[in-house]
Amino acid sequence: MASQPNSTLPNHGAVQMLNPKTEPICTPLLIDSIGNTPLVDISVLADKPEIKLLAKLEGSNPGGSVKDRPALYMINKAEESGELTADKIILEPTSGNTGIAIAMIGAAKGYRVKLVMPACVSMERRGILEAYGAETVLSPGCQMTDGAIRLAHKILDQEPDRYFMPNQYSNPNNPLAHYETTAPEIMQQTAGEIDYFVAGMGTSGTLMGMSSFFTKYASQVKVIGIEPGLGHKIQGLKNMHEAIVPEIYEQQKLAQKIMIEDETAYEMTRKLALEMGLFVGMSSGAAVAGALRVAEQIDSGTIVTLLPDRGDRYLSTNLFRSQCALCPP
Ligand SMILES: Cc1ncc(COP(=O)(O)O)c(C=O)c1O
Repeated sequence: MASQPNSTLPNHGAVQMLNPKTEPICTPLLIDSIGNTPLVDISVLADKPEIKLLAKLEGSNPGGSVKDRPALYMINKAEESGELTADKIILEPTSGNTGIAIAMIGAAKGYRVKLVMPACVSMERRGILEAYGAETVLSPGCQMTDGAIRLAHKILDQEPDRYFMPNQYSNPNNPLAHYETTAPEIMQQTAGEIDYFVAGMGTSGTLMGMSSFFTKYASQVKVIGIEPGLGHKIQGLKNMHEAIVPEIYEQQKLAQKIMIEDETAYEMTRKLALEMGLFVGMSSGAAVAGALRVAEQIDSGTIVTLLPDRGDRYLSTNLFRSQCALCPP
């Protein structure tokens, strides 16, 4: 006997799912879920009634960091220009997040990926890269990201036709990703009510892209860069006096630079987790500490800061660990 239609089906959506003739509404690819991250209110930290402090949670991207955006742009544009073809290996020097983003997108699109990074990057980052099937090459830890950059270029120079190097430090599609996605999202999420944008300086892609956008569409917004101190240990950030200066970096695009020391960044990172429920990375602590310095300098206004990644990427470091191991940090 033919089975009877179930008259108790709960709703139209369920009926659609069960009807084989109905077209699927939309099935986006993984890479389509990059961007459109939340903006949350953390004004309570500034503790000034006329100041709004908002944080863009880039750890909500599918690869877990802000770097999904430039990685996708650099790969898509290279496919469009013909620079990246199916037979090439994507090769990049990266301290981790860009590598994770490239490894994720490479796996999703079917490319081989080789990443060069300092031996000192956290175990979680390397573990994630290997899970995506990327090959990792380690440069001396004491030379930090600059050592990885030099080694990656050496590998490229030996066999230039075998590789495509996105080169996030000089690729204009890195800032373009922020110009075309991060900045318009923030404008929409704040309804254009923004006076300051504060973010850490790594490749400077975030700051350069945001600055170009605001210069064109909302020139009242001051873009402020957070720079770590000399000899710092904040993964993802660069002190421009001691590092190879990225080609995309233009200091005049910043209204101001604020220096944040490592311990200040770490303390703020722990406070964000403990008091705000925001489990983020150490460069996020630096960005919020910098945004609070801005808040100290003004009486009113809206400050937006960007939190590049999540805290789970730093669990093997001492960042969230109790010093004596007897009580919680
Ligand atoms: C954790 C983290 N924070 C901040 C940044 C800096 O972002 P940008 O390269 O856009 O300056 C990076 C860059 O890799 C990063 O990995």
